[in-house]
Amino acid sequence: MERILVTGALGQLGTELVLKLQKLFGTENVILTDIHPPLIEKFDGKFHTLDVLDKKALTKITWENNITQIYHLAAILSANAEKTPNLAWKINMDGLINVLEVAREQKINKVYWPSSIAVFGPDTPKDLAPQNTIMNPNTIYGITKVAGEKLCAYYNDKFDMDIRSLRYPGLIGHKSLPGGGTTDYAVEIFHEALKSGTFSCPLTAGSILPMMFMPDAVRATIELMEADRRNLSVNTSYNLAGMSFTPEEIALSIRKSIPDFNVKYSPDFRETIAESWPNSIDDSVAREDWKWKAAYNLDEMTKEMISHLKI
Ligand SMILES: NC(=O)c1ccc[n+]([C@@H]2O[C@H](COP(=O)([O-])OP(=O)(O)OC[C@H]3O[C@@H](n4cnc5c(N)ncnc54)[C@H](O)[C@@H]3O)[C@@H](O)[C@H]2O)c1
Repeated sequence: MERILVTGALGQLGTELVLKLQKLFGTENVILTDIHPPLIEKFDGKFHTLDVLDKKALTKITWENNITQIYHLAAILSANAEKTPNLAWKINMDGLINVLEVAREQKINKVYWPSSIAVFGPDTPKDLAPQNTIMNPNTIYGITKVAGEKLCAYYNDKFDMDIRSLRYPGLIGHKSLPGGGTTDYAVEIFHEALKSGTFSCPLTAGSILPMMFMPDAVRATIELMEADRRNLSVNTSYNLAGMSFTPEEIALSIRKSIPDFNVKYSPDFRETIAESWPNSIDDSVAREDWKWKAAYNLDEMTKEMISHLKI
Protein backbone atom coordinates (compact mmCIF):
# COMPACT_ATOMS: atom_id res chain seq x y z
CA MET A 1 0.00 0.00 0.00
CA GLU A 2 1.39 3.41 -0.99
CA ARG A 3 1.44 6.28 1.51
CA ILE A 4 1.91 9.68 -0.14
CA LEU A 5 3.31 12.90 1.36
CA VAL A 6 2.61 16.14 -0.55
CA THR A 7 4.48 19.37 0.25
CA GLY A 8 3.05 22.72 -0.90
CA ALA A 9 -0.28 20.87 -1.18
CA LEU A 10 -2.42 24.03 -0.93
CA GLY A 11 -0.91 25.69 -4.01
CA GLN A 12 -2.32 25.91 -7.53
CA LEU A 13 -1.05 22.49 -8.61
CA GLY A 14 -1.41 20.75 -5.23
CA THR A 15 -5.09 21.68 -4.90
CA GLU A 16 -5.91 19.66 -8.03
CA LEU A 17 -3.22 16.95 -7.93
CA VAL A 18 -4.15 15.96 -4.38
CA LEU A 19 -7.74 15.18 -5.42
CA LYS A 20 -6.45 12.72 -8.01
CA LEU A 21 -3.96 11.15 -5.57
CA GLN A 22 -6.71 10.74 -2.96
CA LYS A 23 -8.90 9.02 -5.55
CA LEU A 24 -6.08 6.69 -6.62
CA PHE A 25 -4.57 5.80 -3.25
CA GLY A 26 -7.40 6.55 -0.77
CA THR A 27 -7.93 9.84 1.09
CA GLU A 28 -6.41 8.45 4.30
CA ASN A 29 -3.18 7.51 2.46
CA VAL A 30 -2.42 11.02 1.18
CA ILE A 31 -0.83 13.32 3.78
CA LEU A 32 -1.15 16.97 2.82
CA THR A 33 1.33 19.56 4.10
CA ASP A 34 1.95 23.26 3.50
CA ILE A 35 3.60 26.13 5.36
CA HIS A 36 0.14 27.58 6.15
CA PRO A 37 -2.93 25.70 7.39
CA PRO A 38 -5.85 25.49 4.94
CA LEU A 39 -8.21 28.47 4.90
CA ILE A 40 -11.37 26.41 4.62
CA GLU A 41 -12.49 24.72 7.83
CA LYS A 42 -13.80 21.54 6.25
CA PHE A 43 -10.86 19.91 4.53
CA ASP A 44 -10.92 16.48 3.01
CA GLY A 45 -7.85 14.56 4.10
CA LYS A 46 -5.06 14.56 6.69
CA PHE A 47 -3.20 17.87 6.93
CA HIS A 48 -0.01 18.92 8.78
CA THR A 49 1.54 22.37 8.78
CA LEU A 50 5.11 21.87 7.53
CA ASP A 51 7.88 24.24 6.44
CA VAL A 52 10.08 22.27 4.02
CA LEU A 53 13.11 24.13 5.44
CA ASP A 54 12.50 22.33 8.76
CA LYS A 55 14.21 19.01 8.07
CA LYS A 56 13.54 17.65 11.56
CA ALA A 57 9.78 18.14 11.16
CA LEU A 58 9.87 16.71 7.62
CA THR A 59 11.76 13.64 8.90
CA LYS A 60 9.21 13.15 11.71
CA ILE A 61 6.09 13.48 9.53
CA THR A 62 7.55 11.14 6.89
CA TRP A 63 8.54 8.54 9.48
CA GLU A 64 5.37 8.66 11.59
CA ASN A 65 3.12 8.33 8.53
CA ASN A 66 5.04 5.43 6.94
CA ILE A 67 5.45 7.44 3.75
CA THR A 68 6.45 5.55 0.57
CA GLN A 69 6.22 8.40 -2.00
CA ILE A 70 6.82 12.16 -1.77
CA TYR A 71 5.37 14.77 -4.12
CA HIS A 72 7.47 17.85 -3.38
CA LEU A 73 5.54 20.83 -4.77
CA ALA A 74 6.54 23.63 -2.34
CA ALA A 75 8.41 26.41 -4.16
CA ILE A 76 8.59 30.12 -4.87
CA LEU A 77 7.48 30.74 -8.47
CA SER A 78 9.15 32.87 -11.16
CA ALA A 79 7.64 36.34 -10.69
CA ASN A 80 7.70 36.20 -6.88
CA ALA A 81 11.22 34.76 -6.95
CA GLU A 82 12.50 37.88 -8.76
CA LYS A 83 11.21 39.99 -5.85
CA THR A 84 12.91 37.86 -3.15
CA PRO A 85 15.77 35.98 -4.88
CA ASN A 86 17.55 34.93 -1.67
CA LEU A 87 14.39 33.45 -0.19
CA ALA A 88 13.55 31.76 -3.51
CA TRP A 89 17.00 30.15 -3.61
CA LYS A 90 16.62 28.98 -0.01
CA ILE A 91 13.14 27.48 -0.36
CA ASN A 92 13.63 26.01 -3.84
CA MET A 93 17.09 24.53 -3.18
CA ASP A 94 17.26 23.79 0.57
CA GLY A 95 13.66 22.53 0.51
CA LEU A 96 14.54 20.11 -2.31
CA ILE A 97 17.76 18.96 -0.60
CA ASN A 98 15.80 18.28 2.61
CA VAL A 99 13.24 16.21 0.71
CA LEU A 100 15.91 14.25 -1.18
CA GLU A 101 17.86 13.60 2.02
CA VAL A 102 14.77 12.40 3.93
CA ALA A 103 13.83 10.22 0.92
CA ARG A 104 17.36 8.74 0.88
CA GLU A 105 17.49 8.17 4.64
CA GLN A 106 14.03 6.57 4.81
CA LYS A 107 14.38 4.62 1.54
CA ILE A 108 11.31 6.27 -0.01
CA ASN A 109 10.22 4.38 -3.16
CA LYS A 110 9.57 7.37 -5.43
CA VAL A 111 9.86 11.16 -5.34
CA TYR A 112 8.11 13.59 -7.68
CA TRP A 113 9.54 17.09 -8.11
CA PRO A 114 8.28 19.59 -10.70
CA SER A 115 10.69 21.49 -12.91
CA SER A 116 9.61 24.17 -15.38
CA ILE A 117 10.13 25.63 -18.85
CA ALA A 118 12.01 28.30 -16.84
CA VAL A 119 15.10 26.05 -17.13
CA PHE A 120 15.37 27.43 -20.67
CA GLY A 121 16.82 30.86 -21.41
CA PRO A 122 17.49 33.33 -24.22
CA ASP A 123 20.04 30.97 -25.86
CA THR A 124 17.56 28.07 -26.13
CA PRO A 125 15.94 27.55 -29.56
CA LYS A 126 12.66 29.51 -29.44
CA ASP A 127 10.52 27.04 -31.35
CA LEU A 128 10.08 23.46 -30.18
CA ALA A 129 12.77 23.70 -27.48
CA PRO A 130 14.37 20.23 -27.49
CA GLN A 131 14.64 17.84 -24.54
CA ASN A 132 18.42 18.27 -24.47
CA THR A 133 19.48 21.78 -25.36
CA ILE A 134 21.24 24.90 -24.07
CA MET A 135 19.83 25.83 -20.66
CA ASN A 136 21.12 29.25 -19.59
CA PRO A 137 18.21 30.72 -17.60
CA ASN A 138 18.49 34.34 -16.49
CA THR A 139 15.87 34.22 -13.71
CA ILE A 140 16.61 33.04 -10.17
CA TYR A 141 13.65 30.65 -10.45
CA GLY A 142 15.08 29.10 -13.63
CA ILE A 143 18.50 28.78 -12.01
CA THR A 144 16.96 26.87 -9.06
CA LYS A 145 15.12 24.60 -11.50
CA VAL A 146 18.26 23.76 -13.53
CA ALA A 147 20.20 23.11 -10.31
CA GLY A 148 17.27 21.07 -8.97
CA GLU A 149 17.18 18.91 -12.10
CA LYS A 150 20.90 18.21 -11.76
CA LEU A 151 20.51 17.44 -8.07
CA CYS A 152 17.69 14.95 -8.72
CA ALA A 153 19.77 13.24 -11.44
CA TYR A 154 22.71 13.07 -9.01
CA TYR A 155 20.61 11.40 -6.31
CA ASN A 156 19.16 8.99 -8.90
CA ASP A 157 22.65 7.94 -10.03
CA LYS A 158 24.58 8.11 -6.79
CA PHE A 159 22.02 6.57 -4.41
CA ASP A 160 19.98 4.53 -6.90
CA MET A 161 16.82 6.48 -6.09
CA ASP A 162 13.68 6.93 -8.22
CA ILE A 163 13.07 10.67 -8.57
CA ARG A 164 10.83 11.72 -11.48
CA SER A 165 10.19 15.17 -12.87
CA LEU A 166 8.37 17.21 -15.54
CA ARG A 167 9.17 20.62 -17.02
CA TYR A 168 5.68 22.11 -16.76
CA PRO A 169 4.62 24.94 -19.03
CA GLY A 170 2.36 27.64 -17.48
CA LEU A 171 -0.50 25.86 -15.71
CA ILE A 172 -4.11 27.03 -16.04
CA GLY A 173 -6.88 25.81 -13.75
CA HIS A 174 -10.15 27.01 -12.22
CA LYS A 175 -9.98 25.35 -8.78
CA SER A 176 -7.40 27.74 -7.26
CA LEU A 177 -5.60 31.00 -7.92
CA PRO A 178 -2.02 30.95 -9.21
CA GLY A 179 0.88 31.58 -6.83
CA GLY A 180 3.15 34.22 -8.43
CA GLY A 181 4.37 32.90 -11.78
CA THR A 182 4.93 34.69 -15.10
CA THR A 183 2.08 32.78 -16.75
CA ASP A 184 -0.47 33.68 -14.01
CA TYR A 185 -2.07 36.18 -16.40
CA ALA A 186 -3.60 33.25 -18.33
CA VAL A 187 -5.66 32.34 -15.23
CA GLU A 188 -6.39 35.88 -14.04
CA ILE A 189 -7.70 36.86 -17.49
CA PHE A 190 -10.67 34.45 -17.09
CA HIS A 191 -11.57 35.78 -13.64
CA GLU A 192 -11.49 39.39 -14.87
CA ALA A 193 -13.36 38.60 -18.11
CA LEU A 194 -16.25 37.29 -16.01
CA LYS A 195 -16.02 39.86 -13.19
CA SER A 196 -15.30 43.21 -14.84
CA GLY A 197 -15.11 42.52 -18.58
CA THR A 198 -11.67 44.15 -18.80
CA PHE A 199 -8.15 42.89 -18.07
CA SER A 200 -4.84 44.67 -17.72
CA CYS A 201 -2.26 42.28 -19.14
CA PRO A 202 1.34 42.29 -17.76
CA LEU A 203 2.69 40.89 -21.06
CA THR A 204 2.58 42.34 -24.57
CA ALA A 205 -0.20 41.24 -26.96
CA GLY A 206 2.16 39.02 -28.98
CA SER A 207 4.10 37.38 -26.15
CA ILE A 208 3.76 33.68 -26.95
CA LEU A 209 4.34 31.11 -24.18
CA PRO A 210 3.85 27.35 -23.69
CA MET A 211 0.83 26.58 -21.47
CA MET A 212 -1.18 23.61 -20.24
CA PHE A 213 -4.68 23.05 -18.85
CA MET A 214 -4.54 21.62 -15.33
CA PRO A 215 -6.33 18.29 -16.08
CA ASP A 216 -3.56 17.55 -18.62
CA ALA A 217 -0.84 18.51 -16.08
CA VAL A 218 -2.36 16.29 -13.38
CA ARG A 219 -2.73 13.36 -15.79
CA ALA A 220 0.86 13.79 -17.05
CA THR A 221 2.16 13.76 -13.47
CA ILE A 222 0.31 10.58 -12.53
CA GLU A 223 1.16 8.85 -15.83
CA LEU A 224 4.87 9.60 -15.34
CA MET A 225 4.83 8.43 -11.71
CA GLU A 226 2.98 5.24 -12.62
CA ALA A 227 5.11 4.48 -15.71
CA ASP A 228 7.38 1.43 -15.77
CA ARG A 229 10.81 2.76 -14.78
CA ARG A 230 12.48 0.64 -17.46
CA ASN A 231 10.76 2.81 -20.12
CA LEU A 232 12.09 6.10 -18.72
CA SER A 233 15.18 7.30 -20.59
CA VAL A 234 15.37 10.76 -18.98
CA ASN A 235 17.20 10.97 -15.66
CA THR A 236 16.47 14.67 -15.09
CA SER A 237 13.14 16.15 -16.15
CA TYR A 238 10.86 15.52 -19.15
CA ASN A 239 9.82 18.26 -21.59
CA LEU A 240 6.03 18.52 -21.58
CA ALA A 241 3.85 20.39 -24.08
CA GLY A 242 0.19 21.34 -24.12
CA MET A 243 -0.54 24.43 -26.22
CA SER A 244 1.15 27.75 -27.01
CA PHE A 245 -0.68 31.08 -27.30
CA THR A 246 -0.31 34.84 -26.94
CA PRO A 247 -2.44 37.12 -24.71
CA GLU A 248 -4.14 38.33 -27.90
CA GLU A 249 -5.08 34.76 -28.86
CA ILE A 250 -6.50 33.85 -25.43
CA ALA A 251 -8.51 37.11 -25.46
CA LEU A 252 -9.93 36.16 -28.87
CA SER A 253 -10.83 32.73 -27.55
CA ILE A 254 -12.61 34.30 -24.54
CA ARG A 255 -14.49 36.73 -26.85
CA LYS A 256 -16.20 33.72 -28.46
CA SER A 257 -18.18 33.49 -25.18
CA ILE A 258 -17.87 37.10 -23.88
CA PRO A 259 -17.88 39.30 -27.03
CA ASP A 260 -17.36 42.66 -25.21
CA PHE A 261 -14.27 41.51 -23.32
CA ASN A 262 -11.55 44.17 -23.46
CA VAL A 263 -7.78 43.78 -22.77
CA LYS A 264 -5.28 46.58 -22.10
CA TYR A 265 -1.60 45.82 -22.36
CA SER A 266 0.69 47.19 -19.62
CA PRO A 267 3.81 44.99 -19.81
CA ASP A 268 5.99 44.94 -16.68
CA PHE A 269 9.01 42.88 -15.53
CA ARG A 270 7.11 39.68 -16.34
CA GLU A 271 7.38 40.49 -20.06
CA THR A 272 11.20 40.35 -19.74
CA ILE A 273 10.94 36.91 -18.10
CA ALA A 274 8.49 35.72 -20.79
CA GLU A 275 10.84 36.88 -23.56
CA SER A 276 13.61 34.67 -22.17
CA TRP A 277 11.47 31.52 -22.46
CA PRO A 278 10.73 29.44 -25.58
CA ASN A 279 7.56 29.81 -27.67
CA SER A 280 6.92 26.07 -27.78
CA ILE A 281 8.29 22.79 -26.43
CA ASP A 282 9.24 19.53 -28.13
CA ASP A 283 7.89 16.75 -25.88
CA SER A 284 8.56 13.88 -28.29
CA VAL A 285 10.71 12.01 -25.73
CA ALA A 286 7.81 11.96 -23.23
CA ARG A 287 5.46 10.83 -26.01
CA GLU A 288 7.85 8.05 -26.93
CA ASP A 289 8.83 6.88 -23.41
CA TRP A 290 5.50 6.86 -21.56
CA LYS A 291 3.04 7.60 -24.39
CA TRP A 292 2.22 11.13 -23.21
CA LYS A 293 -0.32 13.12 -25.25
CA ALA A 294 -2.03 16.38 -24.24
CA ALA A 295 -5.82 16.42 -24.64
CA TYR A 296 -6.79 20.12 -24.52
CA ASN A 297 -6.34 22.95 -27.03
CA LEU A 298 -6.95 26.65 -26.32
CA ASP A 299 -10.66 26.79 -27.22
CA GLU A 300 -11.51 23.59 -25.33
CA MET A 301 -9.73 24.94 -22.24
CA THR A 302 -11.43 28.35 -22.54
CA LYS A 303 -14.87 26.73 -22.70
CA GLU A 304 -14.20 24.69 -19.54
CA MET A 305 -12.63 27.60 -17.64
CA ILE A 306 -15.59 29.87 -18.37
CA SER A 307 -18.24 27.28 -17.60
CA HIS A 308 -16.64 26.42 -14.22
CA LEU A 309 -15.87 30.00 -13.16
CA LYS A 310 -19.37 31.22 -14.11
CA ILE A 311 -21.03 29.17 -11.37
N1 LIG B 1 1.87 26.86 -11.67
C1 LIG B 1 2.66 26.82 -12.74
O1 LIG B 1 2.34 27.41 -13.79
C2 LIG B 1 3.94 26.02 -12.70
C3 LIG B 1 4.70 25.91 -13.88
C4 LIG B 1 5.90 25.21 -13.84
C5 LIG B 1 6.30 24.59 -12.67
N2 LIG B 1 5.54 24.71 -11.54
C6 LIG B 1 6.04 24.07 -10.32
O2 LIG B 1 5.03 23.30 -9.71
C7 LIG B 1 5.17 23.33 -8.28
C8 LIG B 1 3.87 23.79 -7.65
O3 LIG B 1 3.54 25.06 -8.18
P1 LIG B 1 2.18 25.81 -7.82
O4 LIG B 1 1.73 26.51 -9.04
O5 LIG B 1 1.27 24.92 -7.09
O6 LIG B 1 2.78 26.93 -6.84
P2 LIG B 1 2.00 27.74 -5.71
O7 LIG B 1 2.82 28.97 -5.42
O8 LIG B 1 0.57 27.91 -6.08
O9 LIG B 1 2.08 26.74 -4.48
C9 LIG B 1 3.25 26.51 -3.77
C10 LIG B 1 2.87 26.13 -2.36
O10 LIG B 1 4.08 25.98 -1.61
C11 LIG B 1 3.86 26.51 -0.32
N3 LIG B 1 5.13 26.88 0.29
C12 LIG B 1 5.90 27.96 0.05
N4 LIG B 1 6.99 27.94 0.84
C13 LIG B 1 6.91 26.82 1.58
C14 LIG B 1 7.73 26.24 2.58
N5 LIG B 1 8.87 26.83 2.99
N6 LIG B 1 7.34 25.06 3.13
C15 LIG B 1 6.20 24.46 2.73
N7 LIG B 1 5.37 24.97 1.81
C16 LIG B 1 5.74 26.14 1.24
C17 LIG B 1 2.93 27.71 -0.52
O11 LIG B 1 2.23 28.05 0.68
C18 LIG B 1 2.03 27.21 -1.64
O12 LIG B 1 0.84 26.64 -1.14
C19 LIG B 1 6.37 24.25 -8.01
O13 LIG B 1 7.54 23.48 -7.87
C20 LIG B 1 6.45 25.09 -9.27
O14 LIG B 1 7.77 25.56 -9.48
C21 LIG B 1 4.36 25.40 -11.53
